[in-house]
Amino acid sequence: MCPTLPAPVPESETDLLARIRVHGAVPRHIAIIMDGNGRWARERHMPRPFGHRSGMKAVRAVVEGCLDAGVEWLSLFAFSQENWQRPETEVSALMSLLEEYIAREASELREQGVRVRVHGDLGRLSAPAAAAVERVMRDTEGGDKLGLNLFISYGGRAELVRAARLLAIDVQAGRLTVDGIDEAAFRERLFTAGCPDPDLLIRTSGEQRLSNFLLWQVAYAELYISSVLWPDFGRLALFEAILDFQRRDRRFGRVTA
Ligand code: FPP
Repeated sequence: MCPTLPAPVPESETDLLARIRVHGAVPRHIAIIMDGNGRWARERHMPRPFGHRSGMKAVRAVVEGCLDAGVEWLSLFAFSQENWQRPETEVSALMSLLEEYIAREASELREQGVRVRVHGDLGRLSAPAAAAVERVMRDTEGGDKLGLNLFISYGGRAELVRAARLLAIDVQAGRLTVDGIDEAAFRERLFTAGCPDPDLLIRTSGEQRLSNFLLWQVAYAELYISSVLWPDFGRLALFEAILDFQRRDRRFGRVTA
C-alpha cells in the first residue's frame, strides 16, 4: 500500500512575493477588469451595492500588492459607459463609493507614492464625484511609486473615436499632416499617453471577455482569467497572477531564440 503523502502546505503571500522577486520580471503595468461583485453579494443574500463596497476593499489590497511587488502601473476598470444603464440605485451607490474611496484613501495613497489618474467620460459624473476626482488627481500628482489609472464612465471604442477626433482636429489646424498619423501619434491621443501598455490583463469571476476595456493598449497583454470573484481577489490572488505571468513566453509575434 502506498504511504499517504501529506497535503501540500498552501504558500503564503510572503512566499509568493519572495518567488516573484527571485524571478525578477515583474509586469510593469497590470490592468484589471474587476468583475463579480454582484454575484459575491448574491451568494450572501445581500444587495449588489454590498458587493461593490467589499470590492472597494479589494482595490486597497491590490494597490498594496502592486506596491510590494514593484509594479509601476495599475489600471482598474471601475465603471463602464454601459454601467450607466444599471438601476439608478446601483449607479448612485457606485458613485457614492467612488467619492468615499477618494475621501478615505487619498492621503494614504499620496503617502505611499501612488499617483492617481481618472479616465473616461467624466462630464457625466455628478458635481461632487467630479470634484472628488479632481482633488485626488491634484493631491497625488507627485507620486512616483505606482501610477493608478481608474477608468470611470469609460469605453474602449469611445476612447479610440476620441483619439481619431483629436487627430482630425490637429490635421485641420495644420499641426499634423495625414502622413504624420502613425501609431505613435495615435497613442499620444489615448487617455494612457505616456504610460506603457499593460503587460498583464486580469479579469476576475471567470468571464472571458474584454468588455470594451483598453482595446488598443492590450494588443500584446498576457491574459489571466481568475475564477475568484472580485471582492475576494486580494494580494494572494494578485501574486499568483504575477507568478503565472512570469512563466509565460512572450514573443510579440517573433520566435523564441
Ligand atoms: C463588476 O461587477 C464591477 C463593477 C461594475 C464595479 C467595480 C467597482 C468596485 C470594485 C468598487 C469601487 C471601486 C473604486 C475604485 C471606487 P458586477 O457588478 O458586474 O458583478 P456581477 O457580474 O457578479 O453582477
